[in-house]
Amino acid sequence: MEEIKPVVVISGGAQGIGWATSIGFAAQGYKVMILDKNGELATQRAAELGVGHHAYEVDITIESQVSEAIKEIIDSNQRIDCLVNNAGVGEQQGSTFEQSYSLFLQVLQSHLSGCFLLSRAVAQQMAQQSQKGSIVNLGSIAGERGIPARNAYAAAKAGISAMTRSMAVEWGALGVRVNAVAPGYTYTDLVRKLEQEGKVDIGAIQRRTPLGRMAQPEEIADSILFLASKQASFITGTTLTIDGGWTINGNTD
Ligand SMILES: NC(=O)c1ccc[n+]([C@@H]2O[C@H](COP(=O)([O-])OP(=O)(O)OC[C@H]3O[C@@H](n4cnc5c(N)ncnc54)[C@H](O)[C@@H]3O)[C@@H](O)[C@H]2O)c1
Repeated sequence: MEEIKPVVVISGGAQGIGWATSIGFAAQGYKVMILDKNGELATQRAAELGVGHHAYEVDITIESQVSEAIKEIIDSNQRIDCLVNNAGVGEQQGSTFEQSYSLFLQVLQSHLSGCFLLSRAVAQQMAQQSQKGSIVNLGSIAGERGIPARNAYAAAKAGISAMTRSMAVEWGALGVRVNAVAPGYTYTDLVRKLEQEGKVDIGAIQRRTPLGRMAQPEEIADSILFLASKQASFITGTTLTIDGGWTINGNTD
Protein backbone atom coordinates (compact mmCIF):
# COMPACT_ATOMS: atom_id res chain seq x y z
CA MET A 1 0.00 0.00 0.00
CA GLU A 2 1.26 3.49 -0.89
CA GLU A 3 2.39 5.49 2.13
CA ILE A 4 0.16 8.52 2.80
CA LYS A 5 2.36 11.52 3.37
CA PRO A 6 1.30 14.77 5.05
CA VAL A 7 0.99 17.79 2.76
CA VAL A 8 2.26 21.31 3.40
CA VAL A 9 1.49 24.41 1.34
CA ILE A 10 4.18 27.11 1.53
CA SER A 11 3.61 30.50 -0.06
CA GLY A 12 6.80 32.17 -1.27
CA GLY A 13 8.50 28.81 -0.84
CA ALA A 14 10.95 29.34 -3.70
CA GLN A 15 13.53 31.41 -1.83
CA GLY A 16 14.70 32.80 1.50
CA ILE A 17 12.84 31.70 4.63
CA GLY A 18 10.21 29.95 2.49
CA TRP A 19 12.80 27.83 0.73
CA ALA A 20 14.53 26.89 4.01
CA THR A 21 11.07 25.94 5.32
CA SER A 22 10.36 23.85 2.20
CA ILE A 23 13.61 21.92 2.77
CA GLY A 24 12.75 21.42 6.45
CA PHE A 25 9.25 20.04 5.77
CA ALA A 26 10.54 17.78 2.97
CA ALA A 27 13.14 16.36 5.39
CA GLN A 28 10.30 15.53 7.81
CA GLY A 29 8.48 13.50 5.15
CA TYR A 30 5.96 16.08 3.95
CA LYS A 31 4.90 16.56 0.34
CA VAL A 32 5.76 20.20 -0.23
CA MET A 33 3.53 22.42 -2.41
CA ILE A 34 5.39 25.62 -3.25
CA LEU A 35 3.14 28.54 -4.23
CA ASP A 36 5.20 31.40 -5.62
CA LYS A 37 4.77 34.19 -8.14
CA ASN A 38 8.20 33.25 -9.47
CA GLY A 39 6.96 30.12 -11.22
CA GLU A 40 10.25 29.28 -12.89
CA LEU A 41 12.24 29.28 -9.64
CA ALA A 42 9.44 27.45 -7.80
CA THR A 43 9.45 24.68 -10.44
CA GLN A 44 13.23 24.39 -10.15
CA ARG A 45 12.98 24.22 -6.34
CA ALA A 46 10.24 21.55 -6.34
CA ALA A 47 12.41 19.47 -8.70
CA GLU A 48 15.36 19.90 -6.31
CA LEU A 49 13.21 18.52 -3.48
CA GLY A 50 12.36 15.48 -5.62
CA VAL A 51 9.39 13.31 -6.56
CA GLY A 52 6.04 14.16 -4.92
CA HIS A 53 6.83 17.85 -4.39
CA HIS A 54 5.10 20.40 -6.64
CA ALA A 55 5.26 24.03 -7.67
CA TYR A 56 2.37 26.35 -8.51
CA GLU A 57 2.87 29.74 -10.11
CA VAL A 58 0.51 31.82 -8.00
CA ASP A 59 0.24 35.47 -7.06
CA ILE A 60 -1.27 35.11 -3.60
CA THR A 61 -3.05 38.46 -3.88
CA ILE A 62 -5.21 37.17 -6.75
CA GLU A 63 -8.23 35.27 -5.41
CA SER A 64 -8.84 33.11 -8.50
CA GLN A 65 -5.19 31.96 -8.65
CA VAL A 66 -5.24 31.02 -4.96
CA SER A 67 -8.49 29.08 -5.17
CA GLU A 68 -7.47 27.23 -8.35
CA ALA A 69 -4.12 26.13 -6.88
CA ILE A 70 -5.67 25.02 -3.57
CA LYS A 71 -8.42 23.11 -5.42
CA GLU A 72 -5.79 21.33 -7.53
CA ILE A 73 -3.79 20.41 -4.42
CA ILE A 74 -6.89 19.06 -2.65
CA ASP A 75 -8.04 17.14 -5.74
CA SER A 76 -4.65 15.43 -5.99
CA ASN A 77 -3.99 14.83 -2.29
CA GLN A 78 -7.38 14.93 -0.48
CA ARG A 79 -5.66 16.68 2.43
CA ILE A 80 -3.60 19.66 3.55
CA ASP A 81 -1.87 19.25 6.91
CA CYS A 82 -0.07 22.54 7.16
CA LEU A 83 -0.09 25.99 5.58
CA VAL A 84 2.79 28.43 5.90
CA ASN A 85 1.78 31.97 4.92
CA ASN A 86 5.26 33.23 4.14
CA ALA A 87 5.12 35.21 0.86
CA GLY A 88 5.35 38.96 1.04
CA VAL A 89 7.35 41.94 -0.15
CA GLY A 90 9.54 44.44 1.71
CA GLU A 91 8.80 48.11 2.22
CA GLN A 92 9.09 50.66 -0.59
CA GLN A 93 12.08 52.97 -0.81
CA GLY A 94 12.24 56.35 0.88
CA SER A 95 10.84 58.31 3.79
CA THR A 96 7.13 58.45 4.55
CA PHE A 97 6.84 61.76 2.66
CA GLU A 98 8.19 60.04 -0.46
CA GLN A 99 6.11 56.87 -0.25
CA SER A 100 3.37 56.32 -2.79
CA TYR A 101 -0.13 55.22 -1.88
CA SER A 102 -0.21 52.50 -4.54
CA LEU A 103 2.97 50.88 -3.19
CA PHE A 104 1.61 51.24 0.35
CA LEU A 105 -1.45 49.24 -0.72
CA GLN A 106 0.70 46.69 -2.57
CA VAL A 107 2.73 45.89 0.57
CA LEU A 108 -0.43 45.54 2.68
CA GLN A 109 -2.02 43.35 0.05
CA SER A 110 0.87 40.93 -0.37
CA HIS A 111 0.97 40.15 3.36
CA LEU A 112 -2.60 40.60 4.57
CA SER A 113 -4.74 39.69 1.55
CA GLY A 114 -2.45 36.78 0.73
CA CYS A 115 -2.68 35.38 4.26
CA PHE A 116 -6.46 35.86 4.33
CA LEU A 117 -7.12 34.23 0.93
CA LEU A 118 -4.89 31.23 1.52
CA SER A 119 -5.99 30.63 5.11
CA ARG A 120 -9.67 30.83 4.17
CA ALA A 121 -9.25 28.31 1.35
CA VAL A 122 -7.04 25.88 3.28
CA ALA A 123 -8.74 25.92 6.70
CA GLN A 124 -12.04 24.79 5.15
CA GLN A 125 -10.28 21.67 3.90
CA MET A 126 -8.43 21.14 7.21
CA ALA A 127 -11.67 21.33 9.19
CA GLN A 128 -13.18 18.50 7.11
CA GLN A 129 -10.24 16.13 7.56
CA SER A 130 -10.02 13.56 10.35
CA GLN A 131 -6.39 14.66 10.87
CA LYS A 132 -6.96 18.42 11.25
CA GLY A 133 -4.09 20.80 10.55
CA SER A 134 -2.24 23.93 11.46
CA ILE A 135 -1.33 27.28 9.97
CA VAL A 136 1.84 29.27 10.59
CA ASN A 137 1.98 32.92 9.49
CA LEU A 138 5.02 35.14 9.03
CA GLY A 139 4.92 38.24 11.20
CA SER A 140 7.97 40.40 11.97
CA ILE A 141 9.62 42.43 14.70
CA ALA A 142 8.57 45.39 12.50
CA GLY A 143 5.02 44.73 13.68
CA GLU A 144 6.10 45.10 17.30
CA ARG A 145 8.49 48.08 17.29
CA GLY A 146 8.59 51.44 15.51
CA ILE A 147 11.01 51.32 12.59
CA PRO A 148 11.19 54.49 10.45
CA ALA A 149 9.68 54.36 6.94
CA ARG A 150 8.14 50.94 7.48
CA ASN A 151 4.52 52.10 7.46
CA ALA A 152 2.88 49.51 5.28
CA TYR A 153 5.21 46.68 6.31
CA ALA A 154 4.78 47.35 10.04
CA ALA A 155 1.01 47.66 9.71
CA ALA A 156 0.88 44.46 7.66
CA LYS A 157 2.94 42.50 10.17
CA ALA A 158 0.99 43.79 13.19
CA GLY A 159 -2.09 42.82 11.20
CA ILE A 160 -0.71 39.31 10.70
CA SER A 161 -0.47 38.84 14.49
CA ALA A 162 -4.02 40.19 14.89
CA MET A 163 -5.36 37.91 12.15
CA THR A 164 -3.50 34.98 13.70
CA ARG A 165 -5.37 35.55 16.99
CA SER A 166 -8.76 36.03 15.28
CA MET A 167 -8.45 32.89 13.19
CA ALA A 168 -7.08 30.88 16.13
CA VAL A 169 -10.15 31.74 18.21
CA GLU A 170 -12.59 31.16 15.34
CA TRP A 171 -11.08 27.85 14.20
CA GLY A 172 -9.99 26.40 17.56
CA ALA A 173 -13.26 24.47 17.88
CA LEU A 174 -12.65 23.04 14.40
CA GLY A 175 -9.29 21.65 15.54
CA VAL A 176 -7.26 24.02 13.38
CA ARG A 177 -4.36 25.76 15.16
CA VAL A 178 -3.10 29.13 13.91
CA ASN A 179 0.20 30.66 15.05
CA ALA A 180 2.78 33.14 13.79
CA VAL A 181 6.51 33.68 14.00
CA ALA A 182 7.98 37.17 14.17
CA PRO A 183 11.52 36.95 12.85
CA GLY A 184 14.16 39.58 13.40
CA TYR A 185 16.55 40.48 10.58
CA THR A 186 17.25 37.31 8.63
CA TYR A 187 19.85 37.15 5.92
CA THR A 188 17.73 36.62 2.78
CA ASP A 189 17.32 38.45 -0.57
CA LEU A 190 14.74 40.72 1.08
CA VAL A 191 17.36 42.02 3.53
CA ARG A 192 20.18 41.93 0.95
CA LYS A 193 18.07 44.28 -1.22
CA LEU A 194 17.49 46.66 1.72
CA GLU A 195 21.25 46.54 2.43
CA GLN A 196 22.12 47.40 -1.20
CA GLU A 197 19.66 50.31 -1.13
CA GLY A 198 21.31 51.57 2.06
CA LYS A 199 18.09 51.06 4.01
CA VAL A 200 19.50 48.81 6.72
CA ASP A 201 22.73 49.08 8.67
CA ILE A 202 23.83 45.49 9.25
CA GLY A 203 26.49 46.54 11.80
CA ALA A 204 23.91 48.43 13.87
CA ILE A 205 21.56 45.43 13.82
CA GLN A 206 24.33 43.14 15.01
CA ARG A 207 25.32 45.56 17.80
CA ARG A 208 21.72 45.82 19.04
CA THR A 209 21.17 42.05 18.95
CA PRO A 210 22.28 40.35 22.21
CA LEU A 211 23.22 37.23 20.23
CA GLY A 212 25.38 39.50 18.05
CA ARG A 213 24.29 38.44 14.57
CA MET A 214 21.41 38.13 12.12
CA ALA A 215 19.32 34.96 11.82
CA GLN A 216 19.86 32.37 9.14
CA PRO A 217 16.69 31.35 7.24
CA GLU A 218 16.99 27.80 8.63
CA GLU A 219 16.61 29.11 12.20
CA ILE A 220 13.25 30.67 11.30
CA ALA A 221 12.24 27.50 9.45
CA ASP A 222 12.97 25.42 12.59
CA SER A 223 10.52 27.49 14.65
CA ILE A 224 7.88 27.24 11.92
CA LEU A 225 8.34 23.46 11.93
CA PHE A 226 7.99 23.42 15.72
CA LEU A 227 4.71 25.41 15.68
CA ALA A 228 3.35 23.10 12.96
CA SER A 229 4.34 19.95 14.86
CA LYS A 230 2.65 17.74 17.47
CA GLN A 231 5.08 19.21 20.04
CA ALA A 232 3.05 22.44 19.74
CA SER A 233 -0.35 20.70 19.96
CA PHE A 234 -1.69 23.05 22.70
CA ILE A 235 -0.29 26.26 21.22
CA THR A 236 -2.61 28.46 19.21
CA GLY A 237 -2.97 32.20 18.56
CA THR A 238 0.57 33.02 19.59
CA THR A 239 3.28 35.01 17.82
CA LEU A 240 6.73 33.63 18.58
CA THR A 241 9.51 36.22 18.35
CA ILE A 242 12.75 34.86 16.86
CA ASP A 243 15.20 37.75 16.90
CA GLY A 244 18.26 36.88 19.01
CA GLY A 245 16.92 39.27 21.68
CA TRP A 246 16.66 42.38 19.41
CA THR A 247 13.23 43.49 20.67
CA ILE A 248 13.87 42.97 24.39
CA ASN A 249 17.20 44.81 24.43
CA GLY A 250 16.94 47.78 26.78
CA ASN A 251 20.68 48.31 27.01
CA THR A 252 21.52 51.98 26.33
CA ASP A 253 25.32 51.56 26.06
N1 LIG B 1 14.22 38.45 5.91
C1 LIG B 1 13.89 39.04 7.03
O1 LIG B 1 14.70 39.68 7.70
C2 LIG B 1 12.48 38.93 7.56
C3 LIG B 1 12.22 39.38 8.87
C4 LIG B 1 10.93 39.29 9.37
C5 LIG B 1 9.93 38.75 8.59
N2 LIG B 1 10.19 38.33 7.31
C6 LIG B 1 9.08 37.81 6.53
O2 LIG B 1 9.37 36.48 6.11
C7 LIG B 1 8.75 36.21 4.86
C8 LIG B 1 9.79 35.74 3.86
O3 LIG B 1 10.80 36.73 3.76
P1 LIG B 1 12.14 36.48 2.94
O4 LIG B 1 13.15 37.38 3.53
O5 LIG B 1 12.42 35.02 2.83
O6 LIG B 1 11.70 37.08 1.50
P2 LIG B 1 12.30 36.83 0.05
O7 LIG B 1 12.08 38.11 -0.68
O8 LIG B 1 13.68 36.26 0.11
O9 LIG B 1 11.32 35.71 -0.54
C9 LIG B 1 9.94 35.95 -0.67
C10 LIG B 1 9.32 34.94 -1.61
O10 LIG B 1 7.91 35.26 -1.72
C11 LIG B 1 7.55 35.32 -3.08
N3 LIG B 1 6.43 36.27 -3.20
C12 LIG B 1 6.43 37.59 -2.91
N4 LIG B 1 5.21 38.12 -3.16
C13 LIG B 1 4.43 37.11 -3.63
C14 LIG B 1 3.10 37.03 -4.07
N5 LIG B 1 2.29 38.12 -4.11
N6 LIG B 1 2.61 35.84 -4.47
C15 LIG B 1 3.41 34.74 -4.45
N7 LIG B 1 4.69 34.75 -4.06
C16 LIG B 1 5.20 35.92 -3.66
C17 LIG B 1 8.80 35.75 -3.81
O11 LIG B 1 8.75 35.40 -5.20
C18 LIG B 1 9.88 35.01 -3.04
O12 LIG B 1 10.08 33.70 -3.54
C19 LIG B 1 8.05 37.53 4.45
O13 LIG B 1 6.70 37.49 4.86
C20 LIG B 1 8.81 38.57 5.24
O14 LIG B 1 8.07 39.74 5.45
C21 LIG B 1 11.45 38.41 6.78
